[in-house]
Amino acid sequence: MMDTLPKSILGRTGLTVTKLGYGAMELRGTDHFPRLSAKEASTILNCVLDNGINYLDTSPDYGYSEQLIGDRITHRRSEFYLASKCGCPVEEPEVPHDQRKPHDFSRANVRAGVEQSLRRMKTDYLDIVQFHVSPSRTELEENDSVAELLKLKEAGKVRFIGMSGTIPHLEDQIAMDVFDVFQIPYSVVEREHEDLIHKAAQRGAGIVIRGGVARGVMVKDESVIAEYPGFLQPAFRARRRLWQQTKIDDLLEGMTPMEFMLRFTISNPDMTTTIVGSANPEHLLNNVKVAAKGPLPAGIYAEACKRFPKVAAEQVV
Ligand SMILES: NC(=O)c1ccc[n+]([C@@H]2O[C@H](COP(=O)([O-])OP(=O)(O)OC[C@H]3O[C@@H](n4cnc5c(N)ncnc54)[C@H](OP(=O)(O)O)[C@@H]3O)[C@@H](O)[C@H]2O)c1
Repeated sequence: MMDTLPKSILGRTGLTVTKLGYGAMELRGTDHFPRLSAKEASTILNCVLDNGINYLDTSPDYGYSEQLIGDRITHRRSEFYLASKCGCPVEEPEVPHDQRKPHDFSRANVRAGVEQSLRRMKTDYLDIVQFHVSPSRTELEENDSVAELLKLKEAGKVRFIGMSGTIPHLEDQIAMDVFDVFQIPYSVVEREHEDLIHKAAQRGAGIVIRGGVARGVMVKDESVIAEYPGFLQPAFRARRRLWQQTKIDDLLEGMTPMEFMLRFTISNPDMTTTIVGSANPEHLLNNVKVAAKGPLPAGIYAEACKRFPKVAAEQVV
């Protein structure tokens, strides 16, 4: 029998989403070239839907991810909510990461990006479009970028608007009070956004968590970290060290590190869904099983909150 995933309401959008979502970034492969064949991508995407996950996140920045969604599961469009990003360079997916144009939040580029996502994913509407890479309030206001997303919303091409936000701009973005959804990084080893997550939720936004299993750095070896762009590596290593140095054997009660971490993320009372990425159907099935168990027992969650700091891992290890 299929495991039943817990669900919650995505803030003021009113959408009912599974607490385990799916992040489709892994479909892109290293340096944006396909790591998975189209057949493998089809297997994982259909596995996501077959297991009842109903929230998918992607971006024009993730290589062929949008095209694979369009080619492989658009016929199942009514089974999932689809979120993508805007402000990304509008160019071919095979352009290597270090040669891509910068993000551009002009109205013309925001519109061109959304229209490209609709074409690539063979759909008439996106449920959510989020500004990518956390632009500042000033940059958004100078470009009048939000107005363009609202125009796309009026035209029915976009249902809700969001922000993929981080410190230092997140607080200002929340204060703008225009975003229905925030996508924010968070896990037991990356708790620095926790208070802002609470603030955004209090103001009625839906909270989409990314990095909810810390990219698996606590169960993968150093070679995995070395595959990521250099600027990301110090933080990944610090989170891994924080995980290794924090004594929690007495809290695991038979749970694997992956189960503990995923259920810790799901225990956060302000989160709505965590879009865990995976290119591996076995990992995905395992995540579904774990997420179906729901939050950690309250006492274990409270104790874990005492042991792991609320500041960035780099500041403590
Ligand atoms: N700026 C932004 O807006 C932004 C930035 C980054 C990510 N995102 C979004 O957030 C999503 C998720 O974020 P993320 O990829 O940074 O972090 P994540 O979901 O914490 O980690 C994904 C990684 O964890 C591994 N993993 C997942 N389940 C596992 C399991 N059961 N056992 C072992 N390893 C497992 C996956 O490897 P396998 O493939 O081997 O399973 C993958 O490498 C992305 O797909 C994307 O949609 C957005």
